[in-house]
Parts: sequence; structure tokens; C-alpha cells
Amino acid sequence: MKREVVRSRNFVHDAAEFILQKARVALAERDQFRIALSGGNTPRPVYAELARIGRDLPWDRVFFTFGDERCVSPDDEQSNFRMARESLFVPAAIPEKSIARIRGEIDPQIAAQEYQDGLDLLAAQRGEMIYRHDLILLGMGDDGHTASLFPGTAALEEKVRKVVANFVPKFNTWRITFTFPLIDQARHVCYLVNANKNVDLLQKVLGGDRQFPSARVEPANGALTWILGEA
Ligand code: 6PG
Repeated sequence: MKREVVRSRNFVHDAAEFILQKARVALAERDQFRIALSGGNTPRPVYAELARIGRDLPWDRVFFTFGDERCVSPDDEQSNFRMARESLFVPAAIPEKSIARIRGEIDPQIAAQEYQDGLDLLAAQRGEMIYRHDLILLGMGDDGHTASLFPGTAALEEKVRKVVANFVPKFNTWRITFTFPLIDQARHVCYLVNANKNVDLLQKVLGGDRQFPSARVEPANGALTWILGEA
């Protein structure tokens, strides 16, 4: 696994440009760009910038998935889909057929299974054993979680399923999340992190401290990039 750490004083622009560059390579090589979006707050301005600088991208050949989703309706302010719709899908006029939304509003187990079934079907249509993202965006929480893989939760140990419902005791709620088997299949994984948050945690995670889920992502045949925004 190739890993690079990019420290940027122009985080939003550099992150958006990185995504655009990955899109252009994937479209040139495979005529499609498969990207998984991360949630939370950090990516919002990056998605808005991507919508602004990616106007000429053939969005109908970009396919969006979500690395995780909260168990809420798509109009809930907690919804990762809602954040992406407001910052990217609407401004860039992304066609609905290019977006695979996790149905956070239904039973978590069913939502996870139907999402995994959808990815399995897309992979089979391409003759792949498992759906391979060109790029998976991830964030890092203050406890070192990524996607909805939180420390001490069951999903961390999942070795077979690609998308699961994961109970998160600290929030007393369910989340739907990619698992490491799916994340590690990506051609490229990119963490988008505000480097000023929890410098000590970031140092431990970049040092490979596996008590933190963010340190356990290891693309099997892919690259890993950390883009750290510095004030
Ligand atoms: C979510 C995200 C989550 C996020 C981290 C960091 O659904 O919340 O997928 O993994 O990336 O919590 O969030 P911030 O970028 O807001 O710090």
C-alpha cells in the first residue's frame, strides 16, 4: 500500500482538485468514476468546491455511493445524503441515476443488506468479485473512528460483509457503514481531515496505532492519501 500525507494551507481547493484528478483518470481508463462520499462537516465545502470546478465533468458517468449513513430520513439535518445533496448534487445537477443513497429511514439491517446487494449487482455486471471504488473519501472522528466504524463496535471485526448496520453505544444509535473489506478494495482511499483537530490523535493514527479504526484502513491493491488542512 502506497501512502502519502499532504499538508495543505488551501485544503478545500486542494481536496477538490485531488478528487477531480482521480475522476479524470478513472473516466479516461474505465469510462466511469466510482466515488464514495464521507459525511460529517469537513467535506461539505470540498463538495461545494468540486461542484464549482467540476462543471465540465460528465457527471452522468460518475457513480456516487456513501461510506456511511445515519439512520435518519434523507431530509434530516443529520443525513449525510442531505449534506451531499445540498453541497454537491443540486449545485452540480447530478442525475439521480448517478447516486446510490443508503436508506437510513428504514430498518438498519435491511438498509445495509439492500445496499450491499446493490453493490454486488454492479460488481457482477462488471465481472468483479467485489465492487471496487476508484476513490473512497473518509473522515476521522475525535475518537479515531472513520465512516461509522467506531472504536469497540462490532463492525470493526467484520471480515466478509461489505456493508453492515453497526450499533454505536456512545450515540445509542444504529449507523450503516462500509466495512474494512469493502474500503480496502478501493483503488484509492483519501482521508480529508482538518489537521488542527486533535493533533495528538492524528499523530497516533498516522503512526499506525490500531486502537483507532482510522489507522486500520489498508487498501489491498490501492493507495492511501491523507489530505490535512492546516490553518
Ligand atoms: C459521519 C462521517 C464520519 C466523519 C467523522 C469526521 O457520518 O459522521 O462519515 O466518519 O467523517 O466523524 O467528521 P468531521 O469531518 O465532521 O470532523
